[in-house]
Amino acid sequence: MKKQHEAGKLTARERIDLLLDPGSFVELDRFVVHRCTDFEMEKQKVLGDGVVTGWGLVDGRKVVVFAQDFTVFGGSLSGAYAAKICKIMDLAMKIGAPVIGLNDSGGARIQEGVESLAGYADIFLRNTLASGVVPQISAILGPCAGGAVYSPAITDFILMVEQTSYMFITGPEVIKTVTNEDVTKEALGGAAAHASKSGVCHVTAADDRAAIVKVRQLLSYLPSNNTEDPPRRSAADPVDRDVPELDTMIPLDSSKPYDIKNVVLAVVDDGHLFEVHERYAQNIVVGFARIGGRPIGVVANQPQVLAGCLDIKASIKAARFVRFCDAFNIPLVTFVDVPGFLPGTDQEYGGIITHGAKLLYAFAEATVPKVTVITRKAYGGAYDVMASKHIRADVNLAFPTAEIAVMGPEGAVNIVYRREIQSAADPAALRKTFVDEYKAKFANPYKAAELGFIDEVIHPRRLRARLGASLELLRDKRDKNPPRKHGNIPL
Ligand code: HXC
Repeated sequence: MKKQHEAGKLTARERIDLLLDPGSFVELDRFVVHRCTDFEMEKQKVLGDGVVTGWGLVDGRKVVVFAQDFTVFGGSLSGAYAAKICKIMDLAMKIGAPVIGLNDSGGARIQEGVESLAGYADIFLRNTLASGVVPQISAILGPCAGGAVYSPAITDFILMVEQTSYMFITGPEVIKTVTNEDVTKEALGGAAAHASKSGVCHVTAADDRAAIVKVRQLLSYLPSNNTEDPPRRSAADPVDRDVPELDTMIPLDSSKPYDIKNVVLAVVDDGHLFEVHERYAQNIVVGFARIGGRPIGVVANQPQVLAGCLDIKASIKAARFVRFCDAFNIPLVTFVDVPGFLPGTDQEYGGIITHGAKLLYAFAEATVPKVTVITRKAYGGAYDVMASKHIRADVNLAFPTAEIAVMGPEGAVNIVYRREIQSAADPAALRKTFVDEYKAKFANPYKAAELGFIDEVIHPRRLRARLGASLELLRDKRDKNPPRKHGNIPL
């Protein structure tokens, strides 16, 4: 325990105490020991065998929890240890409670060989079967390496602690042997790497305590299982509040960037957004917030990064978030300001066609309430993708600054009027005339509104009130997809 504290980490039981409401933890299987008799292991038995499991309450709601105990064989996983985790996962499925995993482990118990590998697979199977049934959250609070990473990877959210946690398939020594690359553990699989480069990590925290606080915060937005609605809180922030600053927040010059988070923060309860993947694919913002005390999932293009273009990473990030919200009955509020998909060979060779389709698919299949607001650009295929009316959004709003068109004015004019412009006496002047004409015709929300693709063009200051009313309207929305084994999302 001293070693654990010196490393800046808490013990398994300290972590559980922080996670759960005081006095609510009920420990199970504290007398379980491993069954290994090789390597003189029969002489080294520790009650509980390296993992603390049980159930308790978070904000008065039931959760099941396991905390890997690094002080026992480095938290490594034995057959008996895996069985303890499987037992509480089975319990979670029966009672409809989230599963919280506090990970800190040297991986497979080397002395147990294939029994340990089997134990992992038993957990992976349960992670998969629980997916979309109960929320599963993984906090990585120490090592998590080799195949062990795949349990957290199947869960819904991964939180990592800066500097003391790492995740990788193969560590620095193996990488050096195989590819001759020099890399440290932190650079390879630390919180920063996974939060900003790989996207494996959804949320980072400075230490164990902060990570566990974030797990509690995250849970506050989620229902306990897929048959419940997310918990509504009483809201002090009036839902019909005007937000006057929104009237001037969107620059009239459509090439000027602005921070979409300011728009989101201005309309949600108490200006609070629990951002997911904050450091990854920052051209799209996703996270949880509340309006009128009701949890919502926010998806928002970020004009400040890559002009808000959709690229491979942003599409995958948002698609996964949308599917999570849909699985757990969390209404989606989508803020649109998107000039299109990001052009380039990198994107095309990387498969933007397949990956962009993920987001389209996710929004189209989602049956939760879907409310969309176009703040400025909604161009091309990205207009369709971003929760448009055509893929079953319920309420589609637009600011007067919205521009809904196949492409931006300059690009459009260059294609449609190329011949006229080339042969004109004053090409620049003629181009400007055409651009102005195009803007007047398409760079506004009224054509789309005329066709019923936009339900309302609203005064921006009324956005919060309109979102609140829309969510109330859609409170009992029922919609479903055709019966099938499962769809085939373009993975
Ligand atoms: C058995 C283990 C162990 C393991 C650590 N220990 N890992 N015992 N099986 N996998 C024991 C150590 O022997 C030591 O025991 C104690 O735990 C603490 O370990 P230390 O090495 O002293 O701690 P530290 O210096 O902090 O290093 C932690 C570590 C290192 C980086 C995790 O222990 C390590 O590299 N362990 C091996 C990791 C590994 O290769 N695991 C298998 C990965 S493959 P004493 O008695 O000395 O205190 C895998 C496949 C999963 O996991 C497949 C799933 C499909």
